[in-house]
Amino acid sequence: MSFQIIGTGKKVPEFALSNEQLSTMVDTSDEWITSRTGIKNRYILQDETLSEIGGIAANRALEDAGIEAKDIDLIICSTIQGDYITPSLACMIQKEIGATCPAFDVNAACTGFIYALDIAASYFARGTVKKVLIVAAEAISRYADYQDRATCVLFGDAAGAVVLSSGDNLLSIKLTADGNNEFLTIGGHKGNFPLRDISNHNPYMYMNGQEVYKFAIGSICRDVTEVMEQAGIQNEDVKVILTHQANSRILEAAKSKLEIDGDKFVSIIDRYGNTSSASIPVMFDELKHDGKLVKGDIIVLSAFGGGLTTGAAVLRW
Ligand code: UT7
Repeated sequence: MSFQIIGTGKKVPEFALSNEQLSTMVDTSDEWITSRTGIKNRYILQDETLSEIGGIAANRALEDAGIEAKDIDLIICSTIQGDYITPSLACMIQKEIGATCPAFDVNAACTGFIYALDIAASYFARGTVKKVLIVAAEAISRYADYQDRATCVLFGDAAGAVVLSSGDNLLSIKLTADGNNEFLTIGGHKGNFPLRDISNHNPYMYMNGQEVYKFAIGSICRDVTEVMEQAGIQNEDVKVILTHQANSRILEAAKSKLEIDGDKFVSIIDRYGNTSSASIPVMFDELKHDGKLVKGDIIVLSAFGGGLTTGAAVLRW
């Protein structure tokens, strides 16, 4: 017993930031960002909170599933950080939508949505839940360093949500973690204890882009091959592949190495940038509402990110 996805939703902030606008704030250009990353636009939180956009995505997923907040038995939020350190984002979204069930956050950076699916699968296997809401909501713009042109141009904010009900549609799943604080970090809060030296503290994102780039291509190819083998499916069985959206060049490299029809890889990076763990559920919502998924379709997921973490899964729609 695992689960099936019965509803999807998404919400991005109101403020759209194009490459042209960004070029007036940072020493960059539309030409550089487009050719190196494929990104044209991203959305950035201004006056809204992450809890609000996460709550809207959640309500849309509930409506899509045809159920109410009171029917949810568990809320799992994937986020690197909500609006508060405590309460968790999951508790804030529980309040936003008027649910009463247990709620907690999981932080596996850009891989968090797949980690959340795996946790949900365990709850379904125990038989203690009938409906689970997963919301992946990220505000990376709060941690991007807008004086570091190599990273700040990449990220956007977004929330994506799915409602799961019991079923047998998770065919295989794999998670990895390899602790590494050299390639991708965001410093934590250091507080104001008077005798602690915080002079060298960097509260913003640091990324060694080229190392993460190589790691990403290698992990997508390894993880996708492994979960497809575990699920016993061939390339031609796959309807779509949803990979974490970080850079269109990463996607192109993975496509050519995996020898799977390139049209099966979904790309939304031009419109949203890298929205961390929100990118996969946002793609789910778009595919579902564009009528591109039919019952029985085989979907492969793959993500990678800070930690360093990776995850992949095969689902039947
Ligand atoms: O979800 C988290 C996972 N993150 C990722 O997957 C990111 C993976 N890495 C990447 O996507 C790429 O490494 C980047 C997009 C971050 C960088 O692309 P790159 O092709 O590796 O560029 P680079 O860092 O080697 O920089 C090339 C040049 C440098 O100039 P010089 O030294 O050749 O003169 C940079 O200073 O491009 C310059 N540069 C920029 N120029 C204009 C770097 N960022 C910018 C910019 N605008 N925004």
